[in-house]
Amino acid sequence: MRKIKWGVLGAGGIADRRTLPGMAFADNCEIYAVMEVFPELAEKLREKYNAKKAYTDADSLLADPEVEAVYIASPVVYHAEQVRKAIDAGKHILVEKPIASTAAESMELCKLAADKGLLMAVGLMMRFNTHHQQLKQMIAEGKFGQLVSCHSQFTCWYPDMPGNWRQSKATAGGGAMTDMGIHCLDLIQYIVGSDIKKVGGLAETLTFNYDVEDSCSALFQLENGCFGTVDANFNIPDNAVKWKLEFYGTKGSAICVGTIGQMDGGEATVILSDDSIGYDATQDRNEEGGVVLTGELGNIYGREIESFGNSIINGTPLEVPATDGAKVQKIIESIYESAETGKFITL
Ligand SMILES: NC(=O)c1ccc[n+]([C@@H]2O[C@H](COP(=O)([O-])OP(=O)(O)OC[C@H]3O[C@@H](n4cnc5c(N)ncnc54)[C@H](O)[C@@H]3O)[C@@H](O)[C@H]2O)c1
Repeated sequence: MRKIKWGVLGAGGIADRRTLPGMAFADNCEIYAVMEVFPELAEKLREKYNAKKAYTDADSLLADPEVEAVYIASPVVYHAEQVRKAIDAGKHILVEKPIASTAAESMELCKLAADKGLLMAVGLMMRFNTHHQQLKQMIAEGKFGQLVSCHSQFTCWYPDMPGNWRQSKATAGGGAMTDMGIHCLDLIQYIVGSDIKKVGGLAETLTFNYDVEDSCSALFQLENGCFGTVDANFNIPDNAVKWKLEFYGTKGSAICVGTIGQMDGGEATVILSDDSIGYDATQDRNEEGGVVLTGELGNIYGREIESFGNSIINGTPLEVPATDGAKVQKIIESIYESAETGKFITL
C-alpha cells in the first residue's frame, strides 16, 4: 500500500498526546518528519515515533521534498502563516481548528489551497466516532422522523494560567466556543446533514480573569427547521459533566453520553417510538426503552489520518473539508456578535 509521508508542525502538544499515536493505526501513513521549537523535544519526538527527520522550524520541514502532507498542530496564532507556507510548498494540509484567527482568513486559505490543487482538511476528528457515523446514517434514513431539537455540551476546567496562548484573544481567536464548542456545532451540522442558518448567543468570562470567554451558549436553527443549543464552558469541573449530544425527532431520539471527546465510543442510546400516532393524555413514560448502539470501535485520530490519506491517494471526497471548518468558525463569530448586540444573526 502506498504510504503518505507526513510532516508534523508543532509535534509536542495534541500531536504527541493523540494524533501521532493515532497515525500508527493508519495503514497509508508514514511519520516522516516532526517539527518542534526546542531541539531536544524535536529529537525526542523523532525517536519516539521513529521518524526520519526532526526539524526546529517550519520552513525547513516544508522545504523537504519528501514531505507530501503536513499536519499543523501548533498554537492557533501560527496556523495561518504555516498553512500559507505549506500551500506555497505544494503540501497537502490537515490543520487543527481553527484554521486561522478569523473565518474570512480561513476561507481565503481554503481557496488558495484549492486553486493550487491541494487538499486541505481540518482537525474536527470527532466526526470519526463510530456512534456519530451510525447516527448520521440513521438520521439520513429518517429513523427519527422530522428532527426538531438537538443539544450538545463540551466543557473543561481551565483556570487562569498567565501566558497560556489559549487564554488570550490575540493568540487563540476566542475562548470556550472557539476551542471546544466548535466540535459540537460541527457534529450537529455533520450528523444532521443540515447547516445552521440563524444563531444567537451569550458569551462572557464569568469565572476567570483571562480575556477570552469561559462561558458561551448558543441557540440556533438549522436549514431543515430543527432547533438546537450548544454550551461550551471552561469553568465546570471535568468530573461534573457528561459531554452530552442529543437529537430528538417526531419518531424518537438519540442520546449520547461521552461520545464527544478524544476517544472512540461513549454510549449512544436510541429510543424509537410511535407516540406520534396518537396523543396520550396520561403521558406515561417507559423508562426501560432504548437500544444502546454497538459497533467496532477504533482510534478516531487514526481514522482521520487514514481518511485524509485515502483522499490524496484515491481521490475519495474529504470527510472533513477545511471549508467546513471555516464555515463553523463563521458561526462562532456570529455567536460572539450576537452576544455583543443581543440580536440573532442570519448566516
Ligand atoms: N483535535 C484535537 O483533539 C485537539 C485537542 C487539543 C488541541 N487541538 C488543537 O491543536 C492545536 C494545538 O493545541 P495544543 O493543545 O496541542 O497546544 P499545546 O500548546 O499543548 O501544543 C502546541 C505545540 O506547538 C509547539 N509550538 C510552539 N510554537 C510553535 C511554532 N511556531 N510552530 C510549530 N509549533 C510550535 C509548542 O512547543 C507545543 O509543543 C490547536 O489548534 C488546538 O485547537 C486539537
